[in-house]
Amino acid sequence: MASKRSAKISKGIAVSDKNSEKRKMLNALAKKNRLLAAINNIAIAIGRPLHLEELLNTAQEEILNLLNIKKSIVYLVNDNKLDAITYRGLNEDFVRQVKTIDIGNGPAGKAINTKKIIIVNDISSSHCEIMNVSKIKGIKGCIFMPLKSKERVMGLLILCLESPNPIIKEVNLLESISNHLGTLIENALLFKEKEQAYEELKAIQDRLIQMETLTAIGKLTAGLAHEIATPLNIISGRAEYLLSELGEADIRSENLKVIISQIERITELVKRLLTLAGSEKTKIENVNINNVISDMLAFMERKIINSGINIETFLGENLPFIKINQHRLQQVFINIISNSLDAMQKGGKISLRTYLIMEEAKPEIMPSRHRSFICTEISDTGCGIEEKHINKIFDPFFTTKKSGEGTGLGLAITKSIIEEYGGDIEVKSSVGKGTTFIIRLPAEE
Ligand SMILES: Nc1ncnc2c1ncn2[C@@H]1O[C@H](COP(=O)(O)OP(=O)(O)O)[C@@H](O)[C@H]1O
Ligand SMILES: [Mg+2]
Repeated sequence: MASKRSAKISKGIAVSDKNSEKRKMLNALAKKNRLLAAINNIAIAIGRPLHLEELLNTAQEEILNLLNIKKSIVYLVNDNKLDAITYRGLNEDFVRQVKTIDIGNGPAGKAINTKKIIIVNDISSSHCEIMNVSKIKGIKGCIFMPLKSKERVMGLLILCLESPNPIIKEVNLLESISNHLGTLIENALLFKEKEQAYEELKAIQDRLIQMETLTAIGKLTAGLAHEIATPLNIISGRAEYLLSELGEADIRSENLKVIISQIERITELVKRLLTLAGSEKTKIENVNINNVISDMLAFMERKIINSGINIETFLGENLPFIKINQHRLQQVFINIISNSLDAMQKGGKISLRTYLIMEEAKPEIMPSRHRSFICTEISDTGCGIEEKHINKIFDPFFTTKKSGEGTGLGLAITKSIIEEYGGDIEVKSSVGKGTTFIIRLPAEE
């Protein structure tokens, strides 16, 4: 009985308010359509692999349209700070002032720390991190939207309200947009990181190719040097024979002597090339370090003189041998001296010093039976190494030189050779003054 009566009453109301209800429904429908369109646009933007700024611009535009707001700014979280990345409708001067802000205790900080949307209707009464925002003409309130990914807050979108806020009811919608945008930022940052990693990998690959080319050239040189050595031997033998036949009195013998001495020069050069190409790379022998240094200096003499660099040597006397492969040790010195030459473009001085030290062995580096070490100090008066680089110079591929001028492998190879033979290498450097490398290798006792 009771239900019959109430049905009658509600029918009466429905008839009397028919028009206004229809209007309400149409309005709600229109609003719903706008929302759906905006969400769709944002979803499309998220689905496309655009760059971060582009994506945030699109998303920001859609949110502003949806909520009928004109001014906004998007920040990315960077440690304890917020960095502005894009904005709409705000004055450029103002944005410059708030480009980077600290995450404080105001509404921005609160939104980030609580991961909740904070709505401030009267911004002039709140202590907002975006100073002076209340002074911008027409801005009454702000919505602080944390942009959340699954685990953390990636950014903050601040919407500036010019009128009493009609969209506060849409908090749920904003909440879901905020989650989408956070994920979007995270993905875009990952994408950027991946791109960077790819670039680095490509650079490494280029260098490896360069190295391969160098190795190939080295092998070719070694082969060629072998090929040249045989005919040189024959020529020199024949020339010697002719000289002995002609006798000193013959004036043609002078010419023959010139030929012989030039052949000797070429033979010497070929020998050095073969040494450098390392035809006997694995042989370990008792090596006198001073001889290796003298050979290396003879090899690099031309290059050093041409660079206008003086060399001084203080080679210790009666030094014990080192058990090492002579070519590898030579490679160590060539690498270090080459770097010194590069560091002294306007000339300078290289000092080489060898001496014996007796000390407690470092068990983690040196074989424990060694107590005496041969030290080689190589100092230059070059540009020096910046503090921030000093820990990286032995890393493979670390170079401060232009592509094509440095491979970043010299010191990495040097260190690995020295450590292979139970030694260590240390560097001291002062920018503008010069650099010293100290190499210690176990001495034969
Ligand atoms: N004597 C030196 N003076 C100044 N910088 C040096 C010196 N030796 C090495 N370096 C720095 O260490 C880096 C790495 O050296 P290295 O491994 O030989 O590679 P590369 O010479 O190909 O750059 C150089 O690029 C340079 O910045
Ligand atoms: Mg080098």
